[in-house]
Amino acid sequence: MMRKPAAFLLLLPVMAIACRATTGTARRPSAFPAGWRFSSGGKAAFGERFMIASNEKLASDAGNEIIRAGGNAVDAAVAVGFALAVTYPVAGNLGGGGFMVIRMADGRSAAIDYREMAPGAAYRDMYLDKNGNPTNESIVGYRASGVPGSVAGMTEALAKFGSKPLSEVMAPAIRLARDGFVVDSALFRSLSSSQEYLARFGAEPVFYPGGEPIRPGTVFRQPALARTLQLIAERGASGFYSGEVADSLVAGMQRGGGLITKADLANYKVEWRHPIASDYRGYTLLTMPPASSGGITITESLNMLEAAGPPGVWGSTRWAHLLASVYQRAFIDRNAKLGDPAFVNVPIAELTSKEYARKLARTIDPLRSTPTPPNGSQIVDGESTTHYSVVDDKGNAVATTTTLNNGYGSGVYLASVGFFMNDEMDDFAAAPGKPNMFGLVQGEVNAIAPGKRMLSAMSPTIVLDRQGKLFLVVGAAGGPRIITTTSQVILNVIDGGMSLYDAMHAPRLHHQALPDTLLVEANGLSPAVRDSLIAMGHAIRFTGGLANANAVMRVPGGWEGVSEPRSSGTGGTSSR
Ligand code: GLY
Repeated sequence: MMRKPAAFLLLLPVMAIACRATTGTARRPSAFPAGWRFSSGGKAAFGERFMIASNEKLASDAGNEIIRAGGNAVDAAVAVGFALAVTYPVAGNLGGGGFMVIRMADGRSAAIDYREMAPGAAYRDMYLDKNGNPTNESIVGYRASGVPGSVAGMTEALAKFGSKPLSEVMAPAIRLARDGFVVDSALFRSLSSSQEYLARFGAEPVFYPGGEPIRPGTVFRQPALARTLQLIAERGASGFYSGEVADSLVAGMQRGGGLITKADLANYKVEWRHPIASDYRGYTLLTMPPASSGGITITESLNMLEAAGPPGVWGSTRWAHLLASVYQRAFIDRNAKLGDPAFVNVPIAELTSKEYARKLARTIDPLRSTPTPPNGSQIVDGESTTHYSVVDDKGNAVATTTTLNNGYGSGVYLASVGFFMNDEMDDFAAAPGKPNMFGLVQGEVNAIAPGKRMLSAMSPTIVLDRQGKLFLVVGAAGGPRIITTTSQVILNVIDGGMSLYDAMHAPRLHHQALPDTLLVEANGLSPAVRDSLIAMGHAIRFTGGLANANAVMRVPGGWEGVSEPRSSGTGGTSSR
């Protein structure tokens, strides 16, 4: 059975551009373990007025263009989102969904849930074979798609918090699709590694002309996508959810046995939510509530860490043991208790309370790891997601994470309208209580139901400093590792006193309860710490890069931006 390629996430370029660079001033120098792949003390991109950090330079430039034309961070974020759908097709999308946290300079904040919804014809056991075992139809092909939310999410964000017309913020994306952009080696590599997969569902003529991936240096034009974007620019979200784009989408689904109907598209709705607001050592975190698990799991982890006492020196045995222990406990709750709040009662107040965290923190033995109970649930989420962080010259900020789930989503490319469809249905628990084909066990709370949103790990987060001023905008791609990576960038800055450069280059670790394993980036622990952790009972597995983050942080005189260094290419984008 064909499994889609997953490894290219960390091969993809991250791009941003800078006017000039600076080191993080007034921050502590960091000492990374010997043998760790990155040095500390490097230069971040710096902008006096604004900063955008995304996974693709041309998309960051799209936001830059809009802010320079007088737009705010929301205008720019929408411009980046549409541009990513053109230049970063592995994860940027029209056919997927996402989450956005907004914090305006006047103190207003909002969270937009534009997660996909299960089609009306979806049902609990739709991905089980006649023996009750999960199939891979939740991942590959036409039946894997939820009803896309991205266009509704971005247009609503713009209408509520933006300052420019949709046609203006979409102009850079339309130009990139219509006039083309020069393919780089990263897109070429990504397409090369996905050719077998993408050839199955209609993408070959566009992305593999003559049977080969489009070569670096080639100008890549996407006229069908340009037309779809133009229709959205003219008609707003109804240019996507009704009319010829909707007709093509539904016809494509019908040809391939997919479930999405015109009624599903017409019924799609964005949910405006309140960000989860929490306090960590005097800093305020504004982060994403369900249908993402990200905000609750980060908040619960950090609350436990605070309750557990001093975190220990960054990189020490105590630091790693505490992080592993709090993540393990928060993920046990995540996997068993979280789902779409329209369908299940999610105990948000309890899970994010300091009192609950104190109770859980008391279960951490300072000298021993705690085994995860067998029913602690395991998750295996998709890995091709993308996060971007935007701060404008007025102090407005946007953190957005968007996804097709796995790279190029379900693989289904709708050629007449020029975009890939998501395979987000795999984020549901296909067989609650039973391991699926990837060993995944999740609870009934995340079972499939028509109109339900599948649980996510996406964690767009905005942090305010102790004076309540905008401080950090961060988030990541990487399935469940989004949660641990996003929180570690925050912890590195707050507890470790690191510059943003060091916080993003520091080794990362990850624990998700099951498998009951502490994942650590190769050479990310000193040998002495590694041996101590093993003696304490931790099962350590070393791995390649964990997740893909993009962050912006306030520094004296402006903003620093760092895009994910684990991918090739780094930068940031800023105005004067
Ligand atoms: N599809 C990955 C996530 O939503 O967490």
